[in-house]
Amino acid sequence: MSGIAIVGVQWGDEGKGKVVDHLAEHATLVVRFQGGNNAGHTLVVNGEPLVVHLLPSGVLREQCTPAIGAGVVIDPEVLLREIDMLTARGWPSRPLVVDSSAAVILPHHRLLDREREGARGALSIGTTGRGIGPCYEDVASRRGIRIGDLVDEARFHAAVDALLPEKEALLRWFGADLPDPSWRQAYVDYGKRLAEYVGDVASLAFQHGESGRVIFEGAQGTLLDVRHGTWPYVTSSHTTAGAACTGVGVGPKAIGHVVGIVKAYTTRVGAGPFPTEDAGEGGVFLQRVGSEFGATTGRKRRCGWFDGPAVQRAVQLNGVDTLALTKLDVLSGLSEIPVCVAYDDLGAPVYEQLAGWEEDLRQVRVRADLPATCRAYVDCLEQLAGAPIDLIGVGPDRIETIGSELMKRRLQLH
Ligand code: GDP
Ligand code: IMO
Ligand code: MG
Repeated sequence: MSGIAIVGVQWGDEGKGKVVDHLAEHATLVVRFQGGNNAGHTLVVNGEPLVVHLLPSGVLREQCTPAIGAGVVIDPEVLLREIDMLTARGWPSRPLVVDSSAAVILPHHRLLDREREGARGALSIGTTGRGIGPCYEDVASRRGIRIGDLVDEARFHAAVDALLPEKEALLRWFGADLPDPSWRQAYVDYGKRLAEYVGDVASLAFQHGESGRVIFEGAQGTLLDVRHGTWPYVTSSHTTAGAACTGVGVGPKAIGHVVGIVKAYTTRVGAGPFPTEDAGEGGVFLQRVGSEFGATTGRKRRCGWFDGPAVQRAVQLNGVDTLALTKLDVLSGLSEIPVCVAYDDLGAPVYEQLAGWEEDLRQVRVRADLPATCRAYVDCLEQLAGAPIDLIGVGPDRIETIGSELMKRRLQLH
């Protein structure tokens, strides 16, 4: 039995949440492997939306154990809020497992995130302000606090005592206020509540890899990868499929398939290069019709056209076997749709204008039933990406999907 890594191949918000929820019908374990509550993954079931920031998007599937791997950075207050929210809505039958090695985001990380952004001035990255970067810095410099420390009061205090002088000195250097001292007791209380969820997710993934099906859920997107993305306008973790191994603790052979999630156009939240951005009418159309607002910060997403070379590069970086194309329905009503097919010698996008279509796609469930110009659009994207498009999203709801059986067959998900 082989695992499935699911990653975004653009700048995030490709619709990973919807696709993970959709495919998790046949999984026994869904595990987040990187990022933190900078992510916002939207699931819509029977018209009812749910946004998860830390919990994996398989959380609504009863047969599926939700887990958070060691590569994730965890704001305990946010995690507990999500658990409470789901409890109120009817918590799934399987209990959550959080790896004891996952790092903990402290109030200091959030403050430093904002101070660092302020200090960059016009060059600010437009982070989510959730403390993601400073927390990963502490992991890399071997002085952070991990979930295993948080749930053991004595260990927590010892780790905080070792960490705090430097953090406070840094905040003073920035001229920032220190967190209210009550944060420490609040964290002890979070630790007490989280203790029941702490476990060894690497072992769990190994067991499910032997006898069940594992989905490794990525956050953000390939172009935000800290090494391979549009650095320095990136997040602070590896967002590519390889990170599923290190972020959970499994070998490369545990991943049998890589699914790339790709939007039918492109969006980006925050600063940084975006060659196919449309600052004019086209971008306004995509933003409005696609309801392109950040699921985490509520910021308007920048919008533009499909970037063939960028997606092809992402397909290669992840070893994508199959693509899920999302939000195709949003393009209905455009007479022509620009697609970036190459870059010229000066690095400017070269566009081809493809014919649009008028029809509403939300009721379509079979690829052959799409309007002819829409089919040609999908064929063109498939060609440019260099990977087959098996699944197509025609609406936000779990069921507003074309090619479900094809994708499940490809992934041997029955
Ligand atoms: P994620 O971060 O990759 O999980 O994506 P987000 O949830 O942040 O953003 C994707 C948005 O598009 C959400 O509001 C989804 O409900 C919505 N969505 C996903 N797939 C489709 C689709 O095929 N069509 C439409 N219209 N909306 C979709
Ligand atoms: P999901 O999982 C889109 C962006 C931020 C900023 C940059 C760095 O929902 O696709 P950070 O707070 O991570 O240090 O910010 O990365 N960013 C995202 N953009 N979707 C996300 O997650 C993102 N997570 C971070 O806007 O530009
Ligand atoms: Mg999102």
